[in-house]
Amino acid sequence: MNIAFIGGGAMGEAMLSAILDKELSQSQAISVSDINEARRQHIEHTYGVAVMSNNRLATDNSDVVVLAIKPQNLAEVMAELSGQLKPTQLVLSIIAGARISSLCLGLNHNCVVRAMPNTPAQIGEGISVWTAAADVTEQQKGWAGSILGTMGKEIYVDDEKYIDMATAVSGSGPAYIFLFMESLIEAAVAIGLPRDMAKELVLQTVLGSGHFIQKSGKPLAELRRMVTSPGGTTAEALLQLEKGKFSELLMQAVSAAYNKAKKLGG
Ligand SMILES: NC(=O)c1ccc[n+]([C@@H]2O[C@H](COP(=O)([O-])OP(=O)(O)OC[C@H]3O[C@@H](n4cnc5c(N)ncnc54)[C@H](OP(=O)(O)O)[C@@H]3O)[C@@H](O)[C@H]2O)c1
Repeated sequence: MNIAFIGGGAMGEAMLSAILDKELSQSQAISVSDINEARRQHIEHTYGVAVMSNNRLATDNSDVVVLAIKPQNLAEVMAELSGQLKPTQLVLSIIAGARISSLCLGLNHNCVVRAMPNTPAQIGEGISVWTAAADVTEQQKGWAGSILGTMGKEIYVDDEKYIDMATAVSGSGPAYIFLFMESLIEAAVAIGLPRDMAKELVLQTVLGSGHFIQKSGKPLAELRRMVTSPGGTTAEALLQLEKGKFSELLMQAVSAAYNKAKKLGG
């Protein structure tokens, strides 16, 4: 599969690296266009793919054109590529907030997939939610699923509204987890644990809990009850979290991210 990347930043590189790792394509079949010379040098040196600063040139002969630029650079890129793509070429956008209808209009192209990956994609442990415009063929959907699948799990949805929702949950989610972990480490240090030990305890608790959820197959509430003896230490902590409206706060945070994602799309 010939793949062109417009934007070789953090997410573009994560995808490129996963595609090569999983041997979905080869370095000779990949081109990366980026306006940033340092990024071009890094990508060329690390992956041995063709790099360039001309976005239009990069898309020549590609089956899939990945849009991995920031939302604020989308208008200029769409203007450059408008009307230049063949119907057989699939555009795969990972740009937060950019709607399929705006992408089709701006690119004057109807074969567009919109996806929302997340940063654990960088180590193949991500999750991407994606949807496709009506003109995308089954073969092109297969390409999109395979590309996103190199970075972890992928879920196809037939309604675009779920992409904005996923943005607020799995897209932004790693930041919520990191903040929770940072706060738990600070709390551990505050009661007297050495910082290194606090970090190790928190990291392994989060990793172990995630695997435990997956392997046990038990409902979360049941797993929580297993740790929570009546009148015990965990019950005391959970009471404080609920007094501080932990669940309600999380509900507000996710809702704010969802509203922001919808607003980004105009
Ligand atoms: N990071 C995440 O967790 C995440 C998750 C899901 C989706 N996304 C989406 O992924 C997209 C890329 O994010 P990122 O974190 O990879 O951004 P990034 O690191 O800033 O990468 C974008 C790259 O594109 C370059 N660029 C800017 N304008 C360009 C143009 N006109 N033509 C070609 N290249 C251009 C940038 O160069 P300069 O740095 O010089 O501007 C930069 O190297 C965003 O739209 C974001 O919404 C990100």
